[in-house]
Amino acid sequence: MKASKRVLNMPTYVFAAVDEVKFDLLKKGVDVIDFGIGNPDRRPPKFMLEALKRAIDDDEHQNHRYSQFMGVIELREAVANWYKRRFNVTLDPETEILPLVGSKEGLLSLYMAYLDKGDTALIPSPCYPAHIGAARAAEADIQEMGLLEENAFLPDLDAIDEAVAKRAKFLLFNYPNNPTGAIETREFYEDVLEYGIKHDILLISDIAYSELSLEPDYVPMSFLELPDAKKYAVEFYSCSKSYNMPGWRVGFMVGNREVIANTLKIKTTKDFSIFLAVQRAIAEILNKGEDFAKPNAELYRRRRDVLVDGLLAIGWHVPRPKAGMYIWTKIPEQFSGSMTFVKELAQKSGVIMSPGSGFGGYGEGYVRMALVVEEDRIKEAVQRIADSGILR
Ligand SMILES: Cc1ncc(COP(=O)(O)O)c(C=O)c1O
Repeated sequence: MKASKRVLNMPTYVFAAVDEVKFDLLKKGVDVIDFGIGNPDRRPPKFMLEALKRAIDDDEHQNHRYSQFMGVIELREAVANWYKRRFNVTLDPETEILPLVGSKEGLLSLYMAYLDKGDTALIPSPCYPAHIGAARAAEADIQEMGLLEENAFLPDLDAIDEAVAKRAKFLLFNYPNNPTGAIETREFYEDVLEYGIKHDILLISDIAYSELSLEPDYVPMSFLELPDAKKYAVEFYSCSKSYNMPGWRVGFMVGNREVIANTLKIKTTKDFSIFLAVQRAIAEILNKGEDFAKPNAELYRRRRDVLVDGLLAIGWHVPRPKAGMYIWTKIPEQFSGSMTFVKELAQKSGVIMSPGSGFGGYGEGYVRMALVVEEDRIKEAVQRIADSGILR
């Protein structure tokens, strides 16, 4: 039995190879310290768990049945209220908000709705692997926009070939950025909007880390804050990182109603939206109107400082990101590839990182460390890295 060309063309997930290294070490009894995947290690706040328990036991709403494809209106209204409070962006809950079974699922649905085989998609590199993976699944012509350190990890729109810009259907950007930790500027967003309008390109913003600012002087924006952006763009938001609930699978796509309607056509074939109890719990959580992500941002800020200070003290050159939950840094010069470095470091220290090559062509030469490890273990990891004898 032969799988589809689509599947045969999908590369093996780099992180599966990292997992192999990790499980090998665990089998040997090594005490592994894992900075690999951005999987929040803390639980959601207690009241959120209680909201979910109440929703599970709520007989009145029959929360264990199939959901409407678009999710319940209470949830969409709660998202509209949150966007209004947080970004001063007005969204119509009937047509401009689509609840997703995690934004990862929504990305694939959107790509399937907007990319035919061979269509050109402008995707940042490095990027969250699903941003590029979904384009491969859609058999698109992927044009990687390199995010370079010297450009503050913002894509250089002027560097995109005019012929590519002309045929592009789709341009995605993600700030605060995974994996680089870079942040947006209003000017950059304005340039993107102008570029999208000029070339008739659908603009896709991913703000999965918008609630994880690590500095008081930086408040992440929504792309939809720009006047008229809704005419040309959709935006993805995820509850996974802000509230430590990646397993709940809750995200939203908001913005252009036509794009939402077309994406919904794919979704109705694929799923029945989020578990209803989760939808009702999230509606309650978002309606509380408090900044529940703040303690999380503070946690990541402390961990960032312990890790960055520790690595600087042992001679690494590590930037201090202003947002998100990742450290993105160059591998030591003596290594030719990030995977080789990750494997050798893991063998010598039991410390796991993600190789930059897993985040797209421009990720090679870097590693990513997710701040999902407690402070004392971060200190221990730094000590082990120092003891491993792998110098910078
Ligand atoms: C930039 C970005 N977007 C989306 C996601 C996926 O989030 P979700 O859990 O909502 O699928 C992630 C997860 O790491 C991410 O880094």
